Amino acid sequence: MEFVSQKTLCILKPDALSRDLEDAIAEKLMAAGLQILARKEMLLSYAQAEAFYAVHKDRAFFEELCTYISSGPIVVQVLSGVEAVSKYRTLMGATNPDQAEPGTIRGDFGQSLSLNTVHGSDSLENAEKEIAFFFDPQDFYI
Ligand code: CMP
Repeated sequence: MEFVSQKTLCILKPDALSRDLEDAIAEKLMAAGLQILARKEMLLSYAQAEAFYAVHKDRAFFEELCTYISSGPIVVQVLSGVEAVSKYRTLMGATNPDQAEPGTIRGDFGQSLSLNTVHGSDSLENAEKEIAFFFDPQDFYI
């Protein structure tokens, strides 16, 4: 089986920044062999949140999700590494922190379904779309 290097999108949500978890999360990423290729701190508008999470627009939690993700600063990062999409999803843990394994980011730091600390792309196809939502190709090199 051939293992290929991939890129994926990581978002540190407002609860990660308000609790100063950036370094602790970066350590977990590094230990898992995931490199941070590009990074920016920003405040998403509600309209940008609606566009980013459009796939969830018919879900009951959509408004809560968009309100939360636009409620404070976030950090968006491009990660790279071997099988980065699945590797980072495993490292994040289950969406609901109550069901996430200890040692995963959400298992260790998540507080609720909304305040679940991080987002990650769920497929290679969506990773490409989500990276392009936030970054231009010249923002990173590899
Ligand atoms: P994320 O990986 O960012 O993708 C969509 C987000 O919707 C998810 O993390 C959760 O934070 C949020 N979410 C999923 N299900 C629910 C739910 N039932 N109620 C509130 N938020 C949810």
